[in-house]
Amino acid sequence: MNSLVQQLDIYKQEIISYNVSNADEVEAFRIKYLGTKGIIKHAMGFMKDVPNEQKREAGQLLNEFKLMVEAKYESLKESFSASEQITNTIDFSLPGNIYNVGTRHPLSIIRNKIVSIFQRLGFAIAEGPEIEDDWHNFGAMNLPEDHPARDMQDTFYVNQNPTWLLRTHTSSVQARVMENQKPPIRVICPGRVYRNETISARAHCFFHQVEGLYIDENVSFADLKQTLYFFVQEMFGKDVKVRFRPSYFPFTEPSAEMDISCLICNGDGCNVCKHTGWVEILGSGMVHPKVLENFGIDSNKYTGFAFGMGVERICQLKYRVNDLRLYSQNDIRFLKQFTSVI
Ligand code: DAH
Repeated sequence: MNSLVQQLDIYKQEIISYNVSNADEVEAFRIKYLGTKGIIKHAMGFMKDVPNEQKREAGQLLNEFKLMVEAKYESLKESFSASEQITNTIDFSLPGNIYNVGTRHPLSIIRNKIVSIFQRLGFAIAEGPEIEDDWHNFGAMNLPEDHPARDMQDTFYVNQNPTWLLRTHTSSVQARVMENQKPPIRVICPGRVYRNETISARAHCFFHQVEGLYIDENVSFADLKQTLYFFVQEMFGKDVKVRFRPSYFPFTEPSAEMDISCLICNGDGCNVCKHTGWVEILGSGMVHPKVLENFGIDSNKYTGFAFGMGVERICQLKYRVNDLRLYSQNDIRFLKQFTSVI
């Protein structure tokens, strides 16, 4: 009888700390304790050796033990199938988490479009620094120190040092290209420029330009016009009207500004076109012989045309943005209205 009590105590300890991690192990427990050749069956076999006067007590002990094993078996089964149920309760038909995808800035969309139109005409992309020296921004472009046309562009100087400045136009990239390449040259130069202007709906202290430069033998004003006509048609469609007005830039001779018919009012007159029906989109001209000579390019052999356009202005016409400040305020309500794949 004593040995039966001892043996059951050992089993009880084992059962209390018994753990399973999958359905097979639950089944192994059942077979070990409750199976036809299991421990309970085996323990019942002791009954025949127990003296009659102790049979009642031994029967009770064995019964308690059996109940304990059965309870443990039920709880193992339950805990395991409960954890199985958790994985089964994931509803795969629920909508997933939505991650917001960013959009391109409208100025980037327009700049990319401008660049890709000229790339199709064989123009390569060139870039230059935003912090420039006086020579590349002004001197080389035929604007010597005392030239009155410097006043056309209010300049930010770096640390009030007159030799270093924030470029006022992308024409400085023309200078860098001519310095490093021999004709034929055919480049498009997109970039940010800076001017010391009071910020308002119509002016900003930084904006964006795309410069174009084409130098080769026999390049004529007709080439310039035809190239820009093509650009306008690709950018704005076939119905847009174009006109050239004579103008002045120190780095081109002759010079012209190009207007297109106002897309906001279709030429009827509005605030954007100042009631003229026309909007200026770029400056252009034949590269001044002095500019070519500044870089050792023979102006008797080579001629070239150049142009520079404002990306914000083209963006305004395409998207009807009426306040320049919107471009740099980072207001998501404004930015998310523009979508493009380029
Ligand atoms: N650099 C001029 C500006 O910022 C624009 C310009 C005019 C560029 C005529 C040119 C050009 O290349 O030929 O106002």
